[in-house]
Amino acid sequence: MGWNHWNTFGCDPTEDIILQTAQALVDTGLNIVVDDCWHAESRDLDTGAPKEDLTKFPHGLKWLSDQLHTMGLKFGIYSSAGTFTCGGHFGSLGYEEIDAKTYAEWGVDYLKYDNCNNEGQSGTPKLSYDRFNKMREALKATGRPILYALCNWGEDQPWNWAGTIAHSWRISGDIHDASHEFSGFDPRCPCTSMLDCKLPGWHCSVTRIIDFAALLVAKIGSGRWNDMDMLEVGRGGMNQEEYSKSGAVVVTHFSMWAFLKSPLILGHDIRNTDNTTLEIITNEEIIAINQDTRAAQPVRKINRLLKSSAGEEDGTLSVWTVSLSTYPTNAIAVLNTGSETQSLTLEFAEIWSDAANLQNLTYDFVDLWQKNGSGKWGQSVGKFSQSFEVSVEPHQTKVFKVIAQS
Ligand code: GLA
Repeated sequence: MGWNHWNTFGCDPTEDIILQTAQALVDTGLNIVVDDCWHAESRDLDTGAPKEDLTKFPHGLKWLSDQLHTMGLKFGIYSSAGTFTCGGHFGSLGYEEIDAKTYAEWGVDYLKYDNCNNEGQSGTPKLSYDRFNKMREALKATGRPILYALCNWGEDQPWNWAGTIAHSWRISGDIHDASHEFSGFDPRCPCTSMLDCKLPGWHCSVTRIIDFAALLVAKIGSGRWNDMDMLEVGRGGMNQEEYSKSGAVVVTHFSMWAFLKSPLILGHDIRNTDNTTLEIITNEEIIAINQDTRAAQPVRKINRLLKSSAGEEDGTLSVWTVSLSTYPTNAIAVLNTGSETQSLTLEFAEIWSDAANLQNLTYDFVDLWQKNGSGKWGQSVGKFSQSFEVSVEPHQTKVFKVIAQS
């Protein structure tokens, strides 16, 4: 969990932005990632070591890192396994050792490692693995524990090989924050599934990334995660209409990223978080599902295509389950990406078709997006056996903790 400057500040990270954000995060213990564009014009011409832009970071990145550590935060940085980064700065291809060594000297705790300008060293899993493994070896050689986050957008199926060298891997092209992109198809994000995708692209919508992730859940486990990209929660583009009513889109985005065990990396301007966003991103019950130590793979048990009243294709109604360390107390998510309210009977025999022992229990259903009497998220909506009736508004996700009754 953490924050990354890219979604809001793009190619203009500065010392002030990072420190002010850190101050806003300080009690959370999250990790801060300085993404692309921290770079000086060139590396050190004598040693080849990477250098930071001293206009943006007047005291240097080592100093910034020390500040963040003093504040109790972790420090992440970005580079690309290519000759240049995606923003056109010097990349790490061929400079893995000196870059890793410098990052370790700067006190880096997390490296986001991108895929731009890779000089044709991709196109087969072996080519990608070898290129990304070089940095892994270099990081290991520094002796400093550095979380290694691959960002090759799902090219060459990293979920099949990255788990042995990295802690997370991006599974899609870049997410984009615009209302029509919640469930829209954009030709800039052309693949319909990531399994054989050659052009991950960008401008990928929230629901498309959820669909991509649905097929890859079997690849995750403790310390190896599908990265669904940084959160757009709180940025405002995706939620204009629905946000004022119920925050449905934002709740869906946050809930599904958490449920699918993606790293949760905020991307909005944390210094100006509005109250609704703050409420959503601090839902401890939802975060607990994401961070659950059982590290179980979530499963999409139902995925119904929806039609609008005019008979046109209109999203899906899906039901997801995940087991928790409190098993047989588990969690269920119901997501409606369509534009009309949907009602559904959750038959326990269907949603737990692969776990007979769960089907005949009685559960207290706790709606994690309703507040209880003490003002905290998580309100019981009653005890149920065999089945449960649920109604979900357009673009809404409901998440329940289902507490097994003895
Ligand atoms: C790529 C990555 C983004 C961001 C930019 C920076 O597009 O996928 O997340 O890091 O590069 O240039």
